[in-house]
Amino acid sequence: MPVDRKPEFFKGAQLKVGIIGCGYVGLPLALRFAEAGHRVTGFDTDPGKVSLLNAGKSFIQHIQQTKIQQFVNSKHFSATTDFTKLKEVDAIIICVPTPLDERREPDLSYVEQTAQAIQPNLQRGQLVVLESTTYPGTTEELVLPILEKTGLRCPIASGPENENIPCEFFLAFSPEREDPGNKQYGLAQIPKVVGGLNPPSCRAAVALYAQVVARVVPVSSTRAAEMAKLLENIFRCVNIALVNELKMLSLRMNIDIWEVIDAASTKPFGFMPFYPGPGLGGHCIPIDPYYLSWKAREFDFSTRFIELAGEVNTAMPYHVVDAVAAALNNHKKSLKGSKLLILGVAYKKDVDDLRESPSLKIMQLLQQRGAEFDYNDPYFPKLHKMRHYNFENMKSVPLNPETLASYDAVVISTDHASYDFGAVVDAAKLVVDTRNATRRVTRHRNKIILC
Ligand SMILES: NC(=O)c1ccc[n+]([C@@H]2O[C@H](COP(=O)([O-])OP(=O)(O)OC[C@H]3O[C@@H](n4cnc5c(N)ncnc54)[C@H](O)[C@@H]3O)[C@@H](O)[C@H]2O)c1
Repeated sequence: MPVDRKPEFFKGAQLKVGIIGCGYVGLPLALRFAEAGHRVTGFDTDPGKVSLLNAGKSFIQHIQQTKIQQFVNSKHFSATTDFTKLKEVDAIIICVPTPLDERREPDLSYVEQTAQAIQPNLQRGQLVVLESTTYPGTTEELVLPILEKTGLRCPIASGPENENIPCEFFLAFSPEREDPGNKQYGLAQIPKVVGGLNPPSCRAAVALYAQVVARVVPVSSTRAAEMAKLLENIFRCVNIALVNELKMLSLRMNIDIWEVIDAASTKPFGFMPFYPGPGLGGHCIPIDPYYLSWKAREFDFSTRFIELAGEVNTAMPYHVVDAVAAALNNHKKSLKGSKLLILGVAYKKDVDDLRESPSLKIMQLLQQRGAEFDYNDPYFPKLHKMRHYNFENMKSVPLNPETLASYDAVVISTDHASYDFGAVVDAAKLVVDTRNATRRVTRHRNKIILC
């Protein structure tokens, strides 16, 4: 690699791009770079995923197999578990998980392992970008020191006087804004925030991403870019908590919160609708805010909004189970011994993602309170063992009038578009609806409990 590689190099065609972590974030990004004509290598520690990808197969429902096949055939995309091949690429993008550990504290072990895997292979002039969501300071404090063990330097510097500060490699942070299943905004249409460790690193990352997204938004540091991602997700988390709390009050006051939200949404400025539900799910919103509260402790700062939102949102599955018990009670039945059908286990509609799904928590609580239950979800024909739950061997039951009628209550937990909620209400004895999925159902409204 050249000693004096300039950031503008990354404006070039046919770059070699390495994406580490071929999951929900890394795989679409890899395919987007391949689509733009670059040669992409996906690095993953899971040999099963690597084999599937090299065979042109998708393991994520919304990512088309034909697309992977096309780029594998044209040699624009391949996958490997061999990290020594990192030596051969121009840019390395890190998209590995950033979960919470058992104590609900940041688990940066995947990012750390990845930096350790890059280190012996790091080449002069390479660009490294961290995309995994994390607290402000991670790129500087965790990734940089590991990479600099090579002896290569990337200085922390900002301002116009450092516009051309010499860099032996470039390092940046650029948060991912992927919204799985969103048909309106795909990766290419979503503006991408980029912060470099220094101005040349920022320019290098801007040049790279400008080739695959409509707009790149540079910020002054990696910390600002890391914080921007957390602000976005904390904004959602806090507003969802607010509307969940107002829903519970509205239920008590006999006011329809969904009607209220629709009415408030007609205000053309200063209002953005958020919708209540059975609790938070997905890999981001329930987890990311805690990355910031953890880091804030280092600064003797208590992030009260985050804690309060967490408290309200965590209580939602408990609220749902209490509402199911109350609904059954009205039918002279106890929760214990009742047979229930959980409709939808994915964390949100139309995705094949179970991570942090509130449906799982609801099922666990129902189990603890002695209810019997089955589930239906077109995206999950069966359930496997998970970190916090054991619903192994459970299979999605078929959805037909006979099965629906055989349960004491049907709990709508995820409002997949493929469900015919009119038919569900027609057949079921009782429906507990956590998503207002039955809003357009006019028949048998007396069977429906909104919660
Ligand atoms: N899923 C989303 O919608 C979304 C949106 C925005 C940001 N993010 C963030 O992006 C990051 C990745 O999330 P994801 O949803 O793609 O996760 P994922 O679990 O779908 O994918 C991660 C991939 O990394 C692989 N992996 C794990 N350790 C590795 C290692 N040491 N080296 C190489 N590969 C390794 C796994 O096998 C897996 O294929 C997280 O920080 C997440 O918070 C996710």
